[in-house]
Amino acid sequence: MTTTTGTLTTAGSVGSAHVRVEGRAKVTGAARYAADLPFAELAHGWMVLSTVARGRVRSVESAPVLAMPGVLTVLHHGNAPRVDGDYVGTLGRPDPIVACFQDDHVPCAGWPVALVVAQTPEQAREAAEALAVQYDEESHDVAFYAGRPGTYTPENSPMLQAETLKGDMEAELAASAVVVDAEYTTPQEHHHALEPHAATARWEGGRLEVVDSNQGSMWVADELAKLFSLDPASVRVRSEHVGGGFGSKGVRPHQVCAVMAATVLHRPVRVVLTRRQMFTAVGYRSPTTQRVRLGADADGRLRALDHQAQNLTSRVHEFVEQSASIGRVMYDADAHHTVHRVVPLDVATPTWMRAPGEAPGSFALESALDELAEKCGVDPIVLRSRNEPVTGPVSGLPFSSRNVLACFREGARRFGWADRDPRPGLRREGRWLLGTGTAAATYPSGAAPSTAAVTAEADGTFTVRISAADIGTGARTALTLIAADALEVRPDRVRVRIADSDFGPAMIAGGSMGTRSWGWAVMTAVDELQDQLALGGDIPPEGITVRSDTSAAVAALAAKERHSFGAQFAEVAVDTSSGEVRVRRMLGIFAAGRIVNPLTAHSQFVGGMTWGISMALHEEAVRDQASGSHVSADLAGYHFAANADVPLVEADWVDDPDADDPVGIKGIGEIGIVGAAAAIANAVWHATGVRHRHLPIRPDRVLLSGSRDIASG
Ligand code: MOS
Repeated sequence: MTTTTGTLTTAGSVGSAHVRVEGRAKVTGAARYAADLPFAELAHGWMVLSTVARGRVRSVESAPVLAMPGVLTVLHHGNAPRVDGDYVGTLGRPDPIVACFQDDHVPCAGWPVALVVAQTPEQAREAAEALAVQYDEESHDVAFYAGRPGTYTPENSPMLQAETLKGDMEAELAASAVVVDAEYTTPQEHHHALEPHAATARWEGGRLEVVDSNQGSMWVADELAKLFSLDPASVRVRSEHVGGGFGSKGVRPHQVCAVMAATVLHRPVRVVLTRRQMFTAVGYRSPTTQRVRLGADADGRLRALDHQAQNLTSRVHEFVEQSASIGRVMYDADAHHTVHRVVPLDVATPTWMRAPGEAPGSFALESALDELAEKCGVDPIVLRSRNEPVTGPVSGLPFSSRNVLACFREGARRFGWADRDPRPGLRREGRWLLGTGTAAATYPSGAAPSTAAVTAEADGTFTVRISAADIGTGARTALTLIAADALEVRPDRVRVRIADSDFGPAMIAGGSMGTRSWGWAVMTAVDELQDQLALGGDIPPEGITVRSDTSAAVAALAAKERHSFGAQFAEVAVDTSSGEVRVRRMLGIFAAGRIVNPLTAHSQFVGGMTWGISMALHEEAVRDQASGSHVSADLAGYHFAANADVPLVEADWVDDPDADDPVGIKGIGEIGIVGAAAAIANAVWHATGVRHRHLPIRPDRVLLSGSRDIASG
């Protein structure tokens, strides 16, 4: 891939590979992350989390700890400032874990019970580890399994369609020539960004200033204002550089603790979470159990699609992993049923994690499709083409564009699918059995209202200000390219400043909606600026600034089924004597709108697919039923794909601009992981003849299942 810096043209930046504008600052260490910025009189807070899974805090024995070197204070439910956790924020009600130290109630292991603040992080840690907390322990229950007592169907809400139903399911299943009825499970998984959660809070000139690592500075500012009952104008949150988020970096206990301590101590306070603390304090992906029933005619045309998904949540907050929603978009059937159910347990609340819903949901549904293809004797890609809907299967809405078959065609050509013998267990290479698999991918493509300001500076350059977040995606660079094209200048004449809540409301880096939503706001502001500049006249020293607000334009979008799509392909080798599964190559072809920066877009897709390898083969958080805590809650004990596990992963895309977006963007943040684990599981079946319906496909599971190894006799 070539890198152009736009030296010759003043247009065409969008669509050309461009290195990150902040890349040099990042690799030289000049870029400061939330825990890097120096502050005079900075104090350091260390969180203390509960060691019991349910009960009450009887006492926090602060006195000995307060006598330790450097210790400034110990905050707990007996002395912490009051906050108000009873509000509805941008994405609903907050997880009560952020209303730290408001009572003695402990609803799960790893619940914040105290904050020790000291002059140095080492002193804070030493004291936090020495702090004795006594509990009145109550019995807990963390066992999650299909059909668990207490499971219920949540209410529909603006963020959740719990259940959809059309047609007569049992009648269509009975009339089907071929039926698949299988249960799939996915384990608890964690999003541990390279940069742990970190925040520094201070009061400055009557304003609360927080330097934080998050996915939306305006979002976090708004939540902190609500929690601390502050005028929103008196809260400023900045997060210029963020080392990953993946859904975990909204308002979390560390910011709240930092603000509390800064308020009490009248000095800046920094709180950084440890890896171990991140296992409970920042959310995770719930385990799921999913039952999929497919009924089809002999040629594979679906008569019935039933997807019932279940996840766990905490007892203090309802989070629904919307695994069944993928079928509402992917496949039609005469009888169509999708439902989410949830069961509260004595655990920390799960949250959004890259492709929430679609990632585990696609494992179940796209595995079931492969099982149906096998039973019907139909090629998996042909099966999908026979079930390609004309309109949204549940919504009935037209698709904004739906190029999933183009992805399969291009992917099949490049992957070499045409020569594939569909029979399983036939290909052997030494101790390895070889197989290939495929799966479809989809993820919603949305836009949300945002504001941006663009300034024409007197020196002929331009400054864009928007409270966007670049969590490693390359959003800052993408916005630079978008603004440069709109302004008809080279990218080096555009300065994009992001991640400051003082820049005004904007979409968070989430839901694969960030770059699209922000790009729209930037385009709108540039349009208005150019109208002003067209009037002529000199640019004053302070420049000419125009602000945009896309609320009206976004609200006016016609109702359509708006999604990105893709096709995943994987080749695996399975050693049936050791149980080892190795992915040999992967290819993902996506139809995901106009690609702004091929360089960083490629990284996004490959990153998601790599995570898919990890999801298929490695990741699994294990809970000890007796203590209610994680086993091996660190990055040594939580296994995930490392370099040696990741072979050639290729990603590319087909032309698929969104006609309703000013730039043509759809959004690419999450779709890369969708379908990836199913493609791998389907390849493992093709290699061995054994279906793996439970992730991860660990060596012991491969060994226990054996293989229908026809070749070895
Ligand atoms: Mo993403 S899970 O919407 O950060």
